[in-house]
Amino acid sequence: MTDAATQAAAAPAAPPPASASQQRYTAVAIALHWIIAFSILGLIAVGWTMETLQHGDLEARAQYQSIVQLHKSFGITVLLLSVARIAWRLMNPPPPEPAMPGWQAFAANAVHILFYVLMIVMPLSGWIMASASPAFETRYFGLVDIRLPVLPTLPMESREGIENAAGTVHEFLPWVILALFVLHVGAALKHQFVDRDGLLARMAPGLFGRTAGPPGAGRGATWAFGSAVVIFAAVVGASMLAASPTVAPAVAEEEQQPVLSKAPAWTVDPAKSSLAFKFGYMGTEYTGKFPEWTAQIQLDTDAAPNQQTPVDGYVRVAIPVAKISTGQEYFDGNVVQGDWFDVPKFPEAVFEVKGGVYKLSPTDYEATGVLHLKGVDHPVRLPFKLTLDGTTATMHGEVTLARMDLGIGKSTATAGEGDAEWVRNEVQVIVDVVATRQ
Ligand code: HEM
Ligand code: HEM
Repeated sequence: MTDAATQAAAAPAAPPPASASQQRYTAVAIALHWIIAFSILGLIAVGWTMETLQHGDLEARAQYQSIVQLHKSFGITVLLLSVARIAWRLMNPPPPEPAMPGWQAFAANAVHILFYVLMIVMPLSGWIMASASPAFETRYFGLVDIRLPVLPTLPMESREGIENAAGTVHEFLPWVILALFVLHVGAALKHQFVDRDGLLARMAPGLFGRTAGPPGAGRGATWAFGSAVVIFAAVVGASMLAASPTVAPAVAEEEQQPVLSKAPAWTVDPAKSSLAFKFGYMGTEYTGKFPEWTAQIQLDTDAAPNQQTPVDGYVRVAIPVAKISTGQEYFDGNVVQGDWFDVPKFPEAVFEVKGGVYKLSPTDYEATGVLHLKGVDHPVRLPFKLTLDGTTATMHGEVTLARMDLGIGKSTATAGEGDAEWVRNEVQVIVDVVATRQ
């Protein structure tokens, strides 16, 4: 034996790391612990940033809108993972605790149980708030509307009450989470670095030392994750069912014979004509337009003014709603969706003169007709001015419509008198037409 070999054999063996005697959590429990822990901290940070953005300038508010959607999507994911985690925990008991005084074991268990409760109640309060809220849909990563069932259909006052209550819970609980977090992390660090019992390695093996492996191979993954998937599918299904159309599409209207008129026809000059609207969003006014529309116009402009009898005329304006442009990309994306114009189901809006066009003075007219929107007819009176220059007519008309009466963004109503928190109820429609007589 060499001198070196003799020395090595005689030297006392280094004690194994404390963690080596500890068993670790199963891989699934460890993965879920860290994914959920970081997500919750991220969601709190994002939540508080959103608060600031919401009260900023337009750009900040537009950012708020997209971030809030992401916040909701990640938050719901945390909820589903937490369901899976709790189910997994029930089927896979944790490794036996390291030796510690009874009160510490009790405190640790209490914090863990409270954490599990918060992992459900925190995202659920957000989901309840968002589902009762009159703001935009909760689109899961931009894909499907997953508002909780029933809530969106309740009367506005109940929704408001539920939204406020859930909102209070959602604002308060992050502080509870953070307080528990300080206790939880403080305790974990104390075990690791003061007691040196290798506790951290149970939840972060590899990073904080070797462990003796989990107590079992882990079982029940299908049940744990399956239950989360089933809950999610049930909510998506209920949300989609609630959103199915309740009114017939515009077909019946199209089949009706247009009112015949012998009045001269007018050809619209699209370059000089426009169909615009002004709307208010969070106190600021914006102007949007429908860039594409076609009009069939027949009107006897030579008739004498008469308050009682309409002049010979017929007007039908067809508007492909999908082309709507608000000047703000964010609004354009939202306004075509379900609660708003619901373009996939109702691609076209039609204004048609039904009650006649009245000539009130040489230049003042009023068209009485119906606006066919989202499968429903609404009576509309459009006063307009019309001036003639040879065979060219220049027309300007304005009408203020209450969008919620038209079923546009209906769920954004927050007050009985029809005022809206986000988007003003009154929308001013401005029609400018330059047309040539045929
Ligand atoms: C918001 C963030 C966090 C939440 C909600 C959370 C939640 C939990 C829960 C519920 C358990 C109990 C597991 C069980 O036995 O069923 C647990 C265990 C554990 N957590 Fe966290 N945790 C968070 C962050 C952290 C952080 C940052 C650390 C690192 C310092 C950490 C270290 C541990 C350790 C070491 C255990 C195992 C304790 C034991 O062996 O009994 N956790 N955590
Ligand atoms: C564990 C998951 C979640 C955490 C930790 C979390 C955290 C937060 C925080 C800290 C805020 C700011 C609160 C304030 O001071 O005003 C917030 C706001 C918000 N959260 Fe969550 N959230 C979670 C899940 C969700 C979910 C699932 C939804 C909806 C589906 C949601 C919807 C909202 C909304 C709409 C706001 C903004 C409220 C407002 O504009 O006043 N959250 N969240």
